[in-house]
Amino acid sequence: MSVDDWQEEARQMIGRAVLAPSSHNTQPWLFRISEPDIDLYADRLRALPVNDPEGRELAISCGCALMNLRVAAASNGFGVNVRLVPEPAEPDLLARVSFGEHSGASSEEAQLADCIDRRRTYRKSFLPREVSDAVVEQLIQAAQREGAWLRPLSIESDKQQAAALVATGDAMQWANPRWRRELAGWMRPRRRGDGLTASALTAPVVRFVVRSFNMGSGIGAEDRESAETSPLLAVLSTDGDQMRDWLLAGQALQRILLLACRLGLQAAFLNQPIQVASLRPRLQRLAGDAFPQILLSIGYSNEEIPPTPRRALDEVIVAAE
Ligand SMILES: Cc1cc2nc3c(=O)[nH]c(=O)nc-3n(C[C@H](O)[C@H](O)[C@H](O)COP(=O)(O)O)c2cc1C
Repeated sequence: MSVDDWQEEARQMIGRAVLAPSSHNTQPWLFRISEPDIDLYADRLRALPVNDPEGRELAISCGCALMNLRVAAASNGFGVNVRLVPEPAEPDLLARVSFGEHSGASSEEAQLADCIDRRRTYRKSFLPREVSDAVVEQLIQAAQREGAWLRPLSIESDKQQAAALVATGDAMQWANPRWRRELAGWMRPRRRGDGLTASALTAPVVRFVVRSFNMGSGIGAEDRESAETSPLLAVLSTDGDQMRDWLLAGQALQRILLLACRLGLQAAFLNQPIQVASLRPRLQRLAGDAFPQILLSIGYSNEEIPPTPRRALDEVIVAAE
């Protein structure tokens, strides 16, 4: 393949990677193309210091983009070799993906490719339809393949306790004016290409309301109900709690989300009891020994959710020296 052809192919795959979810839709990633590799960097200018002081969710978001890149590569007929944090002296270089001959093992990932475009974060009510044990088992396996654990909270009392922690997390976050200001800062008109979108007309009002008023109890009550009535409430967790673990969690999360989409499911995030550091050990006690990274609510719905915006590729691809 000529250098120009490779550049074109790499850009196309990065275009699929950036469709990954990210906290507050910050899209905290940068890519550098160099034959035959694509390097993935953390873009710390897009960090959320109040919501995510350690950059844990930033790394998970980048892990989701990495999974999309792997799926796009498999679907384009490449085999890949992924090295996480390949240069310890360069901690923002999160992964180096080397592209080579296709190997049969990646064909299962290629089957997830259609769902890269179709996956959405779903924030409405699910249909009252059970998620079967066989489907839950497939999602658990997807997490395990990426070195993470998906632990369904199936005992009613565990679910209730997790739901109460979600509401407490909402109350604590909304009571913090710095947290509200950070959230408001990421509420933007769609044309900006990132953030949580509001229409150009309402964005200033929405930002003002979020910045100024503590809506924790109303939102907490809604989120508590979502957790209590969730067809499948499950904790994604990892054995460790370092950068590598967060990148594994991100890849596992995206693998679960793509598979869920393929199985006709939708997913929502209820991460408050993980984001609030003092609540995290309490959720951990419900979900085994491992470190909780993401709390997911998964179910069926008939509603189509419109896609959220993404930044232009030229903004996320940095030139190779
Ligand atoms: C690590 C991570 C944490 C997230 N946390 C939340 C959350 O707490 N609440 C929420 O509603 N969405 C959460 N999201 C979803 C993002 O807001 C969403 O991915 C983003 O707005 C882009 O929308 P999309 O997923 O529909 O493409 C999270 C996503 C990631 C990757």
